[in-house]
Amino acid sequence: MNLPLESKTFLNSNLKISRIINGMWQVSGAHGYINKNEAIKSMNLHVENGFTTWDLADHYGPAEDFVKVFREQRIREQKEESLEDLKFFTKWVPRPQKITRELVNKAIDISRNRMGIETLDMLQFHWWEYQDKNYLKAITFLDDLRKDGTLSTLGLTNFDTEHTEEFLKMGVKIVSNQVQYSLIDRRPEQLMVPLCKKYNVKLLAYGTLCGGLLTEKYLNQPEPLGEQLYTASLSKYKNMIDRWGDWKLFQELLQTLKRIASKYSVTIANVAVRYVLENPVVGGAIIGVRLGISEHIEQNSKTFSFSLNQDDFEEINRVLSKSKDLLQIIGDCGDEYRR
Ligand SMILES: NC(=O)c1ccc[n+]([C@@H]2O[C@H](COP(=O)([O-])OP(=O)(O)OC[C@H]3O[C@@H](n4cnc5c(N)ncnc54)[C@H](OP(=O)(O)O)[C@@H]3O)[C@@H](O)[C@H]2O)c1
Repeated sequence: MNLPLESKTFLNSNLKISRIINGMWQVSGAHGYINKNEAIKSMNLHVENGFTTWDLADHYGPAEDFVKVFREQRIREQKEESLEDLKFFTKWVPRPQKITRELVNKAIDISRNRMGIETLDMLQFHWWEYQDKNYLKAITFLDDLRKDGTLSTLGLTNFDTEHTEEFLKMGVKIVSNQVQYSLIDRRPEQLMVPLCKKYNVKLLAYGTLCGGLLTEKYLNQPEPLGEQLYTASLSKYKNMIDRWGDWKLFQELLQTLKRIASKYSVTIANVAVRYVLENPVVGGAIIGVRLGISEHIEQNSKTFSFSLNQDDFEEINRVLSKSKDLLQIIGDCGDEYRR
């Protein structure tokens, strides 16, 4: 499949990514049983079809190990050049503790060894508790690893505007912040996007499909409850929808998205992802992949077959204006992890 040029972008002058990034939280358990061989096959299928960038974390079960197996297999079967365009962004998510240089170096070495990669394309840093100022040491040591070439780039995940700005003012080179950003959760638009514009930081958006809720599957359907929310992702985002509004308003949104999608011969998922990608501060949207269980490659490629116009935005915004302000209810980006 040949994706258009627009499906790629640069996060900085050297870092080229696919704007739809494959998310690997879904291999970590609680999203269905993942068969390793099938997962590796599916990783190849994504890459062969132009979805060349991967998002993972040290705590996403076997995700980092899968990267190593996948890369080694490609080197064996198709030579080193077949890895050229591929990017793997992992995360370091330390539990609250005293941070030393040794601890940081050791954690990053574990990821490098697990992934079989000498220089990591990007390390995204998460911190649980701002009262614990050890995050300042952590970012300084990580930035040193960037300077010495152990990391190509440094990113954040779930940092709020205030603390992202704190790092930027210290002169730390932050390429991106990975945050929840979707038609349901538009908190980044209020504070984070203006900061990103000011400092030329990109956002990597997750939750754009609300785990699959923002799709035809839930259009005109009764509210799913309890075990009907069969992945950790569906439960997480159903909870977010409950805070945003209610199932009736969500149905109104799905119906509106369906009308727009039909106009362009695409699906609700395409419109939902496109909405986020239309924001120039967004580098990429991370879409979760249940490797070897389900696969949406062809459909997701259609995200690049159209764009939303002013009328579409107005129609969508008419529905969204009836929802609650999640910034008031939850706080800024990532605060859902800190309360
Ligand atoms: N930094 C953080 O704190 C954080 C938090 C959450 C997620 N993330 C990252 O973001 C990634 C995205 O995960 P998410 O939990 O936010 O889920 P998501 O991307 O909102 O939803 C993924 C699910 O959407 C469905 N889907 C995908 N494409 C579709 C299409 N074209 N049509 C219909 N359904 C489609 C699939 O469901 P089925 O498999 O059921 O078909 C898929 O499993 C994660 O893997 C992770 O990398 C990061």
